[in-house]
Amino acid sequence: MDGMAPASSEQIRTLARGIGLRQIRLVSGMILFAYVLSHFLNHALGNISLDAMADGVKWHTAFWQFLPVAILFYTACLVHAGLGLWALYERREFRWKTMELLQLVLGLSIPLLLIAHVLGVRLALTLHGHAILYPQVLFAYFVNWPAWRLWGMIAAILAAWIHGCIGLHMWLRMKPFYKRAAPLLFALAVLLPALAMLGVYQGGRTVVDNDSIEWRADNVSDDKIGTAEQHDRIDRMVRRSLVGYLGLIVLVLLARGARALHERRGGMINLSYGNGRTVRVPKGLTVLEASLRYNVPHASVCGGRARCSTCRIRIIGDCSALPEPSQREAFVLHRVGTDDPSIRLACQLRPNEDLSFFQLFLPHTVSADGHAGSPTRIGQERYLVSMFVDMRGSTRMAEKRLPFDTVFIVNRFLGAVSAAVLESGGRPNQFVGDGMLALFGLTVSRREACRQALRAAALIAANVEELNNFLSHDLREPIRFGIGIHGGEVIVGDIGYRDHMVFTALGDPVNVAARLQDMTKALSCEVVISDEVRATAGLSAEALPQQEVTIRGRNDPMIVRSVTDARTLSALVTDVAAAAA
Ligand code: FES
Repeated sequence: MDGMAPASSEQIRTLARGIGLRQIRLVSGMILFAYVLSHFLNHALGNISLDAMADGVKWHTAFWQFLPVAILFYTACLVHAGLGLWALYERREFRWKTMELLQLVLGLSIPLLLIAHVLGVRLALTLHGHAILYPQVLFAYFVNWPAWRLWGMIAAILAAWIHGCIGLHMWLRMKPFYKRAAPLLFALAVLLPALAMLGVYQGGRTVVDNDSIEWRADNVSDDKIGTAEQHDRIDRMVRRSLVGYLGLIVLVLLARGARALHERRGGMINLSYGNGRTVRVPKGLTVLEASLRYNVPHASVCGGRARCSTCRIRIIGDCSALPEPSQREAFVLHRVGTDDPSIRLACQLRPNEDLSFFQLFLPHTVSADGHAGSPTRIGQERYLVSMFVDMRGSTRMAEKRLPFDTVFIVNRFLGAVSAAVLESGGRPNQFVGDGMLALFGLTVSRREACRQALRAAALIAANVEELNNFLSHDLREPIRFGIGIHGGEVIVGDIGYRDHMVFTALGDPVNVAARLQDMTKALSCEVVISDEVRATAGLSAEALPQQEVTIRGRNDPMIVRSVTDARTLSALVTDVAAAAA
């Protein structure tokens, strides 16, 4: 259970700080999607028989009408619809991507398409005690009502499904597994509604075929579905709800107009991009919205959802007058390892005064539409283990040798390190002078990534020892090195400019690994490993000496493990791997 330390209060606070409106919208949307999925599966039973549909609906209603679940479901309905209206009000820039626009239009139209069905069934039960089930609903759509109502229901099914699928796609597209799972998910996304609609059709045909005086007496008599007066009463309530919902949309549009007027009166501000470009915008726009409105290229991989941090800007000059970062913005900035008040997310910052800044990511690197190029290279959040390796004393060595000799030795060192990283399953990523960043976990699990990094550290020690023997006649003192290893969620993608792009990882764990490598000097050891990597690799807490250290840029101290001789790591990893096998 070493790797399963209970979540600390700091971790819980960090998690809570990461919850914003988008996260609430996502969770409420998932609950509604689960409901739609369950309903579709029930519809699909119509392909077997009407009785199968009737059996299925018992399970469906037993679950969704179980009081705690029902409370959760209706809360999710209200919250999700409310957040949809809020998004309509809040969004200043309507030059959206087709998918975003489609999602908004479908989302707003779902209540219009479904109110009559949902309220009709719900009110019949609540007000008059009539359980409206498949036979009654199918009779209404296939026998009693005009055909356009059936088409309306099909439109509602498709709207709800497509809206949910787009939401899931937007959420999952930056997850590592998504590229692999996408074909299967797409097949399910097409198959399920097709089966559901076919099931409804088959059920409807059965009702039509069985339609007779006796069948109607058993299934759609007044005591089953209510009298004409009761229907009128429910219809009136449905109409009022529809008018109320449309009124809400009109209110939101009016509020947008009033806000635009107010902002125009409130004045305009200048946004200077630090490259000579300045735009004049009304107060209240986010910096990213201003960039989109005035066609200034601006990196924004997640589309302004405060998830990717690629829209980051550095404020030039005084930033004390800027609005404080929201909880979500502060969380994202903290996650990428910056507590510098001059770094802000352009998609969250709404300046009230003139502002000068420059963009930290070039828009050519990560385009504002977020769709150009391969999605895995644009920017993806994932867990990686970062390892920094640095050669000690290369500056001193350069002072005493010919440049050619120094380059030769540094190259041999980096070759030995790279070979160890590759042999362990990692990826040499960046060479900075005589140091290197290596990444582990691009294709393997967290645990395996941590073990690979520890094995690589041991192999580096072995390779460097071999190199020292080989160069013994040439070196006054053997080559020494320092290694820092830390793991965590990072953003991986292509960084650079036009033809000079490199694939790399950004984020707090990478910075921490670099600091841990630095710390090997102070701790007089070869390797410093974060306790997170030690625990994830499955090494016992007693395996390595523990230290509490302060990392620059982090408020809380961090537990690390120091390793005097990197070669000892090989046996430790082999032991835990063997014990697990
Ligand atoms: S665009 Fe992704 S965080 Fe701002």
